[in-house]
Amino acid sequence: MLLTFTILALSALGKASILPRLSAPHTSSCLDNVTAAFEKAHIVPDVLPSFNPKIGVDVLFTDPVTRDDVEVVPGILLTTEQTDQPPVWSLSSEDRDLSSSNTTWVIAIVDPDALTPQDPSLAQFLHFIGQGFVVDRSLAPNEKGSTVQLTNVTSALVEFFHPSPPAGSDPHRYVILVYVQPADFEETGLAYFNGTIPPGTTFRQHFNVTDFAAQTALGNPVAGNFFFVGPDADTSTEVFNAFPFN
Ligand SMILES: *[C@@H]1O[C@H](CO)[C@@H](O)[C@H](O)[C@H]1NC(C)=O
Ligand SMILES: *[C@@H]1O[C@H](CO)[C@@H](O)[C@H](O)[C@H]1NC(C)=O
Ligand SMILES: *[C@@H]1O[C@H](CO)[C@@H](O)[C@H](O)[C@H]1NC(C)=O
Ligand SMILES: *[C@@H]1O[C@H](CO)[C@@H](O)[C@H](O)[C@H]1NC(C)=O
Ligand SMILES: *[C@@H]1O[C@H](CO)[C@@H](O)[C@H](O)[C@H]1NC(C)=O
Repeated sequence: MLLTFTILALSALGKASILPRLSAPHTSSCLDNVTAAFEKAHIVPDVLPSFNPKIGVDVLFTDPVTRDDVEVVPGILLTTEQTDQPPVWSLSSEDRDLSSSNTTWVIAIVDPDALTPQDPSLAQFLHFIGQGFVVDRSLAPNEKGSTVQLTNVTSALVEFFHPSPPAGSDPHRYVILVYVQPADFEETGLAYFNGTIPPGTTFRQHFNVTDFAAQTALGNPVAGNFFFVGPDADTSTEVFNAFPFN
């Protein structure tokens, strides 16, 4: 009788400790899932030779028309409207208290599917290299410090350029990578672009984030996430099956 009770109590406990995690909003912090998603969508090896995230990156867009929050879970299909403005960035960890972290991070977004997934002749297209991202201590961390919102203390190296896949294209992958920022990154990052970030969008073509990370001592990404944007997308849904290389 006691044994039965113990087993029931344990299984209830087990459920209690699992259910909140499955229903938690920060699904992208599930590292096994994001690692599997990167391989399933061929981001490994198209963009990275390998991917071993240590923490999660949560990405929150705001639809400028409806003002709805749009949270990126790996592989979600978003519209150009939903991704028109730069997102809010958070980091999350199940085993580390990030709220006291003094680390500074770099965040990059690249599109390996420009001009189209079938004709990536302009890839990678560089959408963003933000730097100087630190824990925003003006905001209360949630879940005992496991998820912290970031704020940038310096301006971006390469400003956010909104996703704009051409008409008729299949959805493009937009790959988000987070790196620990080396002390001299502001200089080495600029030096990579030969000392000046040219105006216009042409310089963003034929980018190679792996090469950039190697040249600027960023090392391997510590976190990553990705979403799709289609020119005609009008719905938010998981779209692995829509990816033409599956
Ligand atoms: C991980 O992926 C599985 C299968 O796709 C899903 O059922 C589960 O909810 C995901 N977990 C998290 C934390 O996102
Ligand atoms: C971050 O810096 C503050 C102030 O220098 C220090 O008190 C704190 O211990 C540091 N946190 C970590 C995790 O090293
Ligand atoms: C944060 O980044 C944005 C975009 O580059 C920039 O306009 C802003 O000035 C930055 N904030 C600080 C404190 O530098
Ligand atoms: C910087 O200039 C060198 C020499 O002209 C060139 O080989 C290299 O591609 C340039 N780098 C970038 C990122 O434009
Ligand atoms: C990107 O750069 C890395 C490191 O320099 C290199 O191994 C890889 O072949 C490059 N990828 C492409 C598509 O040029």
